[in-house]
Formats: sequence, C-alpha cells, structure tokens
Amino acid sequence: MTRHFLDLADAGGDAIAAMINDAIDRKAARTDWPKGKADTDRPLDGRVLAMIFEKNSTRTRVSFDMAMRQLGGTSLIMEASSTQLGRGESIADTARVLSRMVDAIMVRTDDHAKAEEMARHASVPVINGLTDRSHPCQIVADLLTVVEHGKALPGLEVAWLGDGNNVLNSILEAAGLMKFNVRAATPQGYDPDDEFVGAARAAGATVTLTRDAVEAVRGADVVVTDTWISMGQDHASEKLAAMEPYRVDSALMAHAKPDAMFLHCLPAHIGDEVTEEVFESAQSAVFDEAENRLHAQKSILLWTFGLL
Ligand code: CP
Ligand code: NVA
Repeated sequence: MTRHFLDLADAGGDAIAAMINDAIDRKAARTDWPKGKADTDRPLDGRVLAMIFEKNSTRTRVSFDMAMRQLGGTSLIMEASSTQLGRGESIADTARVLSRMVDAIMVRTDDHAKAEEMARHASVPVINGLTDRSHPCQIVADLLTVVEHGKALPGLEVAWLGDGNNVLNSILEAAGLMKFNVRAATPQGYDPDDEFVGAARAAGATVTLTRDAVEAVRGADVVVTDTWISMGQDHASEKLAAMEPYRVDSALMAHAKPDAMFLHCLPAHIGDEVTEEVFESAQSAVFDEAENRLHAQKSILLWTFGLL
C-alpha cells in the first residue's frame, strides 16, 4: 500500500520513533561532510520528489530538496500558480499525471482537503508540507531536536503559547502518539482543533487548555510558540491584541524548568510572539530545530518509500 504522510498518525508512534533514531544516525554519519554530498548508501538513488507550493517556504523547500540529494535522489519544485493547477486543472488529474513521472509528491497547500484529494488519486506517496490544519514534518524535526538535547519524550511537559494553529494541532497529535503532555495557553477563540485535543486525550496524553500563560509554562520542559498570524490569515488587529499576553519573554521563561528549551518553527516575528532576548538565549534551540528539518525529512522520505 502507498505510504502517504498527511498527518503523524499515518505513520504512528513506532515509525516516528524509528524516524528519530534514523535521523540521529544519518546526521552523525555525515558530520562535517559537504552538504550536497550523498550519504554512502544512497537509498533513494534515481528517485525524484516533486514539490508543489501554494504558499511560501524557505525551510520546507530547501530541506526536502537537500534531503533528496543526500539520499541520492533529486527533486523538482513547482509553484502551484505556475502549473496548470493555477488554471483550474483538477487535483485528481494532477496527481495521476505526476504519479506517472515522479516517485513521490510533497504538497504545501491552504486547504488540507486538497492534500487528501492528492493522496486519494496519487499512486506514489504524498507528503503534507503544511496545510491550514497541520504541519507533521515540522513536528518530526521538533521531536528530533528535543531528543537530541537529551530529553525523553514520554512524560515530557510541553507548553504552547499563542495561536492554536496547525503547528499546535500536530504537536497534540504527537503527544498522543509519543506519550507526552501539552499545556496550551491561547486566547479565547484561538483554541486548537477539538479533533486533535480529543485524539491526544483518548491516547492518554494530558492536555491542558488554559488562558493563563504562566499556568502553561510552569514547570515545562519545552516552551513552544509560533507566528500569531499564519500564512493566508488576515493581520486582524483584534487577533494581534488578543495574543499580547502570550508573548514568550524572559519573565515567562523563568516559570519553566531551569533547563527548559525554547522552540519555534520559524519564521519568527521578534517582539510579537517572542522577545529577542529569549530567541537569542542559550535556551533557544531554534536553529538546531531548523537544521533538523533536513535530517527529519530524510527519515520521513525513507518511511514513505517503505525503507524504514
Ligand atoms: N517552518 C517552516 O515550515 O518553514 P518554511 O515556511 O520556511 O518552510
Ligand atoms: N503556522 C505557520 C507555520 C509556518 C511554518 C503558518 O501556517 O504560516
């Protein structure tokens, strides 16, 4: 069966653990190598990944491209607007055509249903490179970063501050699969999706939803935030005003454990969701996290190809 990766649950907890271990091993095996040199085993030799972007990207685009090169394959990058999708060709036909020409498809779209539609009609793996609903690839990189920094996932206390968005939804999904706990402080009206909260709780994770930033951060191992305005959303002044109490600053970080990490998927908006002091602090692992997008993508790709 074709292995799509639209959400973390498509892989499940054991596969995610395997992805993290594989990423750690592959990363260690190529320390100080030129970044474009392929891994010794070239497991995706001859394979091609097509990427379709409906939204902007730096990390996802470059990390998937470099991941394919390091695994011995290649990639091609398409802006949706410059393909026939931009002139109304159906997702179903696009999926069937691409499946005849490439070995896997990554899609970044404003509507999760479009990624699902692509997967329904593709005979090659389809990977979610971010939708309005979720960002599973980001969270594999985040979990890798946490583990690399010596923290075990089971029982981990993760605090989320700000908008209850696609990244938080995937963190909640991961909590259920990897058995950690989430305390999310969001303003009224900006809660994460009930579906993700319910699934995490049903899987045994403790999920606390609060309006109180300090309550979320108190005793946390990891403090995470993201932009207050995601791609495609209005810069509504009411939303920005509602987010003000959830800015991650040093006073808030002081409520977390002394060795707590700060994570942010980037791009960051310094002075909005996080202060420069926290972003640049020794607790901030945001650039390890960004680098780990590359190492995580490799493991995700290997999983979709049935090689992990
Ligand atoms: N974190 C993330 O997905 O970054 P890009 O939007 O740059 O891909
Ligand atoms: N929540 C953000 C993540 C960007 C990587 C967005 O969807 O724009």
